[in-house]
Amino acid sequence: MTQVENKPTTSDTPFVPMEKIVALCKRRGFVYPNSEIYDGVAGIYDFGPLGVELRNNIRRYWWWSMVQMNDNVVGIEGAIITHPRVWEASGHVENFVDRLVDCKNCKRRFRIDHLPAENVIQNKCPECGGELTEPRTFNLLMETYLGVVEGERMKTYLRGEACQNIFLDFVNVVKSSRVQIPFGICQIGKAFRNEVTPGNFLFRQREFEQWDLQFFVHPSEMQQWFDYWKEKRFEWYKGLINHKDRLHFREHGPDELAHYAKQAFDIEYKTILGWQEWEGIHWRQDWDLSRHSEYSHKDLSYTDQNTRERYIPWIVETSGGVDRTFLYLLLDAYEEEPDPAGKESRTVLRLHPAIAPVKVAVLPLQKNKEELVTTARDVYKKLQRLMVAQYDDVANIGRRYRRQDEIGTPYCVTIDFQTLDDRTVTVRERDHMTQVRISIDELPMYLLERVTWQ
Ligand code: GAP
Repeated sequence: MTQVENKPTTSDTPFVPMEKIVALCKRRGFVYPNSEIYDGVAGIYDFGPLGVELRNNIRRYWWWSMVQMNDNVVGIEGAIITHPRVWEASGHVENFVDRLVDCKNCKRRFRIDHLPAENVIQNKCPECGGELTEPRTFNLLMETYLGVVEGERMKTYLRGEACQNIFLDFVNVVKSSRVQIPFGICQIGKAFRNEVTPGNFLFRQREFEQWDLQFFVHPSEMQQWFDYWKEKRFEWYKGLINHKDRLHFREHGPDELAHYAKQAFDIEYKTILGWQEWEGIHWRQDWDLSRHSEYSHKDLSYTDQNTRERYIPWIVETSGGVDRTFLYLLLDAYEEEPDPAGKESRTVLRLHPAIAPVKVAVLPLQKNKEELVTTARDVYKKLQRLMVAQYDDVANIGRRYRRQDEIGTPYCVTIDFQTLDDRTVTVRERDHMTQVRISIDELPMYLLERVTWQ
């Protein structure tokens, strides 16, 4: 896919305040607080008409890049609920915990691993300097129960990470498809965590969606595939953003590695929240398949068809979030741009055209001229079959452009009086506000070439 234009940033280019994104998302129908009429639930959100289009585009592009475009990668879709033993084998029942402290004075709550070292040593609140409580430990898995009869119900968990299904289905995939190591299995799906400090809008939620690649390799090839996917995933994110200098790798220190990881790098992106994780590249080695073999008493080894060598494959994991990508792409794309003519400034979302929720808006120059409206509706109906399109005839043309800029629509097509003479339209491009005149017959191909990934 073509890269988004590099928008050079300097150290003093301001970061977009989160409140602006939250407000835009609500105003324009991207994201709503869940159960808002009951005062909401912390860390849970719903997606509105534009949000669902944006999410679908993000998901589809990941799937296209990871599954469709790689001969040695296949996809699955696993269930949210699994056998409870899965979470014992995975280590989550024992290790998936956060340690928390509360400030005795201002009552704020902190995860210990998020506190500056000096505050931990001095047992001092970073906000008000008050004394902190003794740490308490919480497991993040969300419990649920299967069955209806009290006493016979089985306690299990909503999955705490989506990827476990991939390990559970490993043998079935090997037996039912023609994959051979090295190969990968991908999945996009919901995960649930009882986060003790949910916040920063979509950044840390309790219900969210993850995308995972688990790539199975021979142990002798682990390093080469780890490096391969690390670079490949970095380039994938880089291609989607304007502020390319706000993306980097951070290697995990030994004290912060997940219980299964021998080595890990985060792809991080810098926003108003500072440098924060976008996706993790994890060296999972044989942890998952060995543990599930041990707990299930089933053989999860792999036999090489050529050499007959039998072994437990090692795993490279690339694990990111649909919601975090959604949030970071909005933070990266949002801009308030002064009007060159010195009138109103415009808010524009510089989203990659292939990701933008609406691809084209069709606008008759005036809504009280019947021929303009008929032609515009005709053009709109044709485009609607090919891409997400909007028809808008409310307010003057400048206002309609601004409305589309604010939701990131890459192209606006205007039907004017010249259209009635020669069947040409103007196509206005969002970022540079340049206009070209092209014939209605050429319009579908002109737009498709620019708004689809290839
Ligand atoms: N299977 C590995 C795993 O789950 P993780 O670093 O805990 O690793 C992977 O999660 C990705 O999921 C993160 O990089 C982030 O994009 C997303 N993610 C994790 N916790 C999240 C939360 N509470 N809210 C939103 N996204 C989250």
